[in-house]
Amino acid sequence: MMQTHHTLAALRAQLRQWRREGASIGFVPTMGNLHAGHFALVELARKHADKVVASIFVNPTQFGPNEDYARYPRTPESDINGLAENHCDALFLPSVEQMYPFGTIGCVQMHVPGITDILCGAHRPGHFNGVAQVVARMFNMVQPDLAVFGRKDYQQLQVIRYMAREMSFPVEIVPAPTLREPDGLAMSSRNQYLQGDERQTATRIHQTLLFMRDAARQGLPLQGIEDQARSRLEAAGFGVDYAEIRRTDLSRPRSAGEPGQLALIAARLGRTRLIDNLEFENV
Ligand code: PAJ
Repeated sequence: MMQTHHTLAALRAQLRQWRREGASIGFVPTMGNLHAGHFALVELARKHADKVVASIFVNPTQFGPNEDYARYPRTPESDINGLAENHCDALFLPSVEQMYPFGTIGCVQMHVPGITDILCGAHRPGHFNGVAQVVARMFNMVQPDLAVFGRKDYQQLQVIRYMAREMSFPVEIVPAPTLREPDGLAMSSRNQYLQGDERQTATRIHQTLLFMRDAARQGLPLQGIEDQARSRLEAAGFGVDYAEIRRTDLSRPRSAGEPGQLALIAARLGRTRLIDNLEFENV
């Protein structure tokens, strides 16, 4: 039976009991509206830990003033059922007041320099600091042995890795592969915003990532690949935030031929902002 906790006190009582039994704890933080991608993280956590704790919290501090905080899909009932079916042991559903007892303005902040200035960070000022802030709080609340994050949000995964290492959080960060729809679109809670033809057009993101990978493997010039990717997306109707090739640590490669790279795209279709990436080895 999955336990659902709305307060930190109730969560901690449960965790204390599991710790007494000698159980290791795996943690899967989410913002809810769960899909198969999220459930795969729960499954991966279960492989590495005795007990799995998931959280659902739509974190206000990671949304910009003109972003979708208010309309972000909230579906607690089906999320609870889905987590229970996927053998999650406990769910933490804190309120904003639980997470930010001193409010979201005058509270302790997190700032992860450098990596938060590029890619999505450049287009969503403050976003990753908000993510780091809430994940740090969650780590202190749950005190997990390991936490699973999806590669779909690759930059987020790297921000969390840096933060955990630098702040000596005693938690292992476990990356999970990206789950996709049969036509290649990365699963995302935001996909349901797509209207009419937009759903079909959205598959162009994955296709463009494949194009970037193949062009990089052929050793074509980096800038040329990125320019072409951008114009392909624009021709399909996207507003492109970026289409870039980076090293796996997100620094800029000298050429497209280097090993250990990935292509990353963030692009807007109507009101929907989609992100995706593809790692590739230039062998
Ligand atoms: P959310 O978007 O709900 O995602 C929760 C976790 O699920 C993240 O680690 C994300 O990378 C992963 N995920 C989402 N779609 C996926 C897919 N198609 N395949 C594999 N994993 C996928 O990311 C957040 O919430 C928040 O920023 C959070 C970390 C919870 C902090 O508020």
